[in-house]
Amino acid sequence: MAEKILVTGATGFVGSALVKELYRRNKKEVRAAFHSGTLTSQLKTYSSEQIRLEFGDFSTIDRAFQEVSTLFLVTPFAREQVEYAKRMIDRALLFGVEHIVDLSILGAEQEPGTQFTRWHRRIEKYLENCGVAYTIIRPNIYMQNFLRYAQPSGGFIYLPLNHAQVSYIDVTDVAAVAAELIIAGKEHYGAVYELTGPQALTVDDVTHIISSAVGSHIGYIPIQEETACHIMESLGIPAWMAKGMLELYSMQREGKNEMVTSTVELLCNRKPISFEEFVYNNSNLFKEIIQHEQQIHPR
Ligand SMILES: NC(=O)c1ccc[n+]([C@@H]2O[C@H](COP(=O)([O-])OP(=O)(O)OC[C@H]3O[C@@H](n4cnc5c(N)ncnc54)[C@H](OP(=O)(O)O)[C@@H]3O)[C@@H](O)[C@H]2O)c1
Repeated sequence: MAEKILVTGATGFVGSALVKELYRRNKKEVRAAFHSGTLTSQLKTYSSEQIRLEFGDFSTIDRAFQEVSTLFLVTPFAREQVEYAKRMIDRALLFGVEHIVDLSILGAEQEPGTQFTRWHRRIEKYLENCGVAYTIIRPNIYMQNFLRYAQPSGGFIYLPLNHAQVSYIDVTDVAAVAAELIIAGKEHYGAVYELTGPQALTVDDVTHIISSAVGSHIGYIPIQEETACHIMESLGIPAWMAKGMLELYSMQREGKNEMVTSTVELLCNRKPISFEEFVYNNSNLFKEIIQHEQQIHPR
């Protein structure tokens, strides 16, 4: 009987945390799908199988779906995002998958929304009508972005967020909820969950927390959209993606990402991870990033 869990995006933020969490919860039949990235030893340790999956290639999709009963669907920020998701949902139906847990985004239902939230809503609607049982999670902005996209540079974080408050969430909590939904299955069919961290913070708050945890001063410089656009361009981010990111920042400035929900606590029976805990748990990574930056831009 098919009973494998297929975790897509298993090298990404939530996917990698989910593979680890499923292992911790004794779910051993986990197929971790990786894409371009290299397989980490962590992924090999925590999943029973690893498979290369390219959403643009049907043969890799069909291999990945063999004997799968549950799909955790992560689709990337890509122009083809909706097309990829629909393709995965169609194949899930064909292969007799019983349950799809879809990683969406907070604000997906808002009108008119932003490019990225609208794409997620289109995926959600397709899922709602596809004939496979589903559960949707809509997390807020990840704390982990401060380790990747929004990391300190030359002692400062530059973002077009003014003093917007955002209830950032740790991907560990998103993964803990996803694992619970996968394991509990039926009782969550058809549900949509909005996931946030425990409190709404400004980037000023964030930099204070990072500074005191790593013992090095990190500041915040609010920037205009135009400057953010130039920075993204210099980093090689394509114009369509930069436009989408600017819309997400604008949504945050409008206060649409400051709500705090109790969903993580209700589903996981524990408090969500605070920003202080997140920084503490990743203090070595933050220290590495800051030391590296100080070598490039000595103060
Ligand atoms: N970042 C946030 O704050 C946030 C908040 C809420 C919701 N979300 C949602 O989370 C999703 C992931 O976004 P993210 O930026 O956070 O990315 P991420 O964690 O890096 O996850 C994306 C994953 O998709 C894989 N992937 C990319 N292209 C693929 C392809 N063609 N075929 C198969 N796999 C592919 C990536 O593998 P490779 O790295 O190997 O290409 C990666 O493992 C998005 O739908 C986003 O809207 C993000």
